[in-house]
Amino acid sequence: MTNNKRFPEGFLWGGAIAANQVEGAYLEDGKGLTNVDLLPTGEKRRGIMEGHITDLKPNPEDFYPSHEAIDFYHNYKEDIALFAEMGFKSFRLSISWARIFPNGDDAAPNEAGLQFYDDLFDELRKHNIEPVVTIAHFDVPVSLIERYNSWESRKLVDLFEKYSITIFERYKDKVKYWMTFNEINMLLHLPFMGAGIVLKEGANRDQVLYQAAHHQLVASAKAVKACHEIIPDAQIGCMLAAGMFYPYTSNPDDVFKAMEKDRESFFFIDVQSRGEYPGYAKRFFKDHNLNIKMEPEDEQILKDNTVDYIGFSYYSSRTTSTDPEVLKNATSGNVFGSVSNPYVSKSEWGWTIDPKGFRITANQLYDRYQKPLFVVENGLGAKDEINADGTITDDYRIDYLKKHLNEMGEAIEDGVDIIGYTSWGPIDIVSASTGEMKKRYGYIYVDRDNEGNGTLSRKKKKSFDWYKNVIATNGEEL
Ligand code: BG6
Repeated sequence: MTNNKRFPEGFLWGGAIAANQVEGAYLEDGKGLTNVDLLPTGEKRRGIMEGHITDLKPNPEDFYPSHEAIDFYHNYKEDIALFAEMGFKSFRLSISWARIFPNGDDAAPNEAGLQFYDDLFDELRKHNIEPVVTIAHFDVPVSLIERYNSWESRKLVDLFEKYSITIFERYKDKVKYWMTFNEINMLLHLPFMGAGIVLKEGANRDQVLYQAAHHQLVASAKAVKACHEIIPDAQIGCMLAAGMFYPYTSNPDDVFKAMEKDRESFFFIDVQSRGEYPGYAKRFFKDHNLNIKMEPEDEQILKDNTVDYIGFSYYSSRTTSTDPEVLKNATSGNVFGSVSNPYVSKSEWGWTIDPKGFRITANQLYDRYQKPLFVVENGLGAKDEINADGTITDDYRIDYLKKHLNEMGEAIEDGVDIIGYTSWGPIDIVSASTGEMKKRYGYIYVDRDNEGNGTLSRKKKKSFDWYKNVIATNGEEL
């Protein structure tokens, strides 16, 4: 498939990871325990991700994949050399809050944690790779969960601001692209995994979650303000788990429901990008008797500190219906829940595969916000087999990416301003939704299985050279 110079000069091709899914070394060099360190593999995981957890300690009988992950903490130089070999222009990573402030509110930051990211950024710069940094990719220090139930408390706003200022000051010469909360809308779906929130017996779920959302939105705006003041030449964005909802039929009830489902997610970005609560959110609060406590200054803080770009992940589109019969075939694989769409296929994990939906989503986001978009996650989670000669022929991954990049090119031709693309997990990492290693996204294979066995050695897959060529031709050869 050949294109005609669709991608702009300087397009930020690269890959994306999150601290807890790669680093390991979960208590090394002073790091504190986080919510994501309490997510085991197996059947218990889902309930805990949803906020049903009583004991905020690892259980010796369970296996916690984040504790060692792929040991990026000790291997990052070798891994970055491989990314550089692929020609990465950018690399998205997150800083672990608990490496910097192990308890979330320590008087002074942990120097060893700060130094780790300093060295990491130097390594990226050495290879001319632009770091793109997520300030919070799901993780919250457990100490803040024990004392405040995480983002349910206003306390977190100031603590997050202090954490953000600390890292802006430290890395101001090394990092020019920032993002506040990864997939901020995940809070509504997997509150413990996404934001460290424990849902206590009898709690009013919506009240707790929308109060927490307000705190995150104010914290995000304060981080935007601090970033603009401390690093005037930086750009700071938000990050949405995107993928639009289609109505199952043209029945206006289905169409309206699809709009409402989209708005559950847009709500966050509407505030972060337009600077105010949308009318439909106010109505939702009223209709559901929610009383969201806001401080008098919040309105202005949100108004004055909107994001510079819209970061988003796109894996799947979703489909919804008002017909109870249709709703019976909803898939469980997708975090957001979706009824089966007969026009598109699914991954082995039940995630809808819909390249055209990527183009639609990008257009939809650009129409709505008119700000540059940054695609900071996209990819296919699949099982890989090693051939007898040691090679890995991941044509299915190449096929998925090819089709999605082609649609991204179409979106750019539609006039959508997209500044970069970092595919998810350029090296195999721990899956967020299942904790598995066998759900692989990488161009680089990591020898580790679901139970934590393996040498952790790295090996290039067929997609490695394919992506290298995509970058070398600036997307002209897919
Ligand atoms: C996004 C997250 O939801 O999807 C990542 O930001 C996650 O952390 C990615 O890994 C893919 O999901 P999974 O469950 O396949 O790892």
